[in-house]
Amino acid sequence: MRRPVPEVTVRRAREEDLDPLVELLVAVAAEGRWIATEPPVDRERRRRGMAAALDQERALLLAAEAGGQLVGQLWIEVAVYGVADLGMLVAEGWRGRSVGSALLAAALDWARQAGAHKVALQVWPHNPAAIALYQKFGFQREGLLRGHYRRRNGELWDAVVMGLLL
Ligand SMILES: CC(C)(COP(=O)(O)OP(=O)(O)OC[C@H]1O[C@@H](n2cnc3c(N)ncnc32)[C@H](O)[C@@H]1OP(=O)(O)O)[C@@H](O)C(=O)NCCC(=O)NCCS
Repeated sequence: MRRPVPEVTVRRAREEDLDPLVELLVAVAAEGRWIATEPPVDRERRRRGMAAALDQERALLLAAEAGGQLVGQLWIEVAVYGVADLGMLVAEGWRGRSVGSALLAAALDWARQAGAHKVALQVWPHNPAAIALYQKFGFQREGLLRGHYRRRNGELWDAVVMGLLL
C-alpha cells in the first residue's frame, strides 16, 4: 500500500528555521555534486547570512515544510539594477515531488512584487533535474561559464547561466 504524501507548505523562513535550514544545506553540500557550497560548511557563517535575509526588503529566504520537517529552501535577492539572483535546494528524499516547483513559483511571485524585471541563476551542466525545473518555469539558457568554479579537489567546473525576463 502506498503511504500518503504529506502536504508541502512554502513560507517565509523564521528565526527557528535557521538551524534546520543550515543542516539541510550541509547535507546537500555533502552530496558533493549539485550546489556550489562544498564541505566543510562554516555553519555559523551560513546561519548569520540566512538570519540577515530574514528582515530584508530586497531578499527572501523561503522554507518548504512537509510532515513537520523542513524539506527545501530557496534564497533570492534583488539587486538595485532589478535582477534577482536565486539559489535553492530540496532534501534528497523529497526530490521529484514538486517541492522545488512550489518554492520556485513562490519566489517568482515575490520577485515580481519586489519590482525585479529578471531572475537569474547558475547551474552545473550535469544537473538535469535543476535545468528541467528552471526550463519548466520559462528560464532560458543564456551562456556557459567555462572552467569557472574551482572545486576543492582542484577540478574546474563549467556553469550554465540561465535567466527569466519577468
Ligand atoms: C533541482 C531541485 C531543486 C528540483 O527540485 P524538485 O523538488 O526535485 O523538483 P520538482 O519535483 O518540482 O520537479 C520540477 C520539474 O523538474 C523535472 N525533473 C525533476 N526531477 C528530475 C530529474 N531527476 N531529471 C530530469 N528532470 C527532472 C520535471 O520536469 C519536473 O516537472 P514535472 O514534475 O511537472 O514534470 C532538486 O532536485 C534539488 O534540490 N537538487 C539538489 C540541489 C540542487 O541541485 N539545487 C539547484 C542548484 S542550481
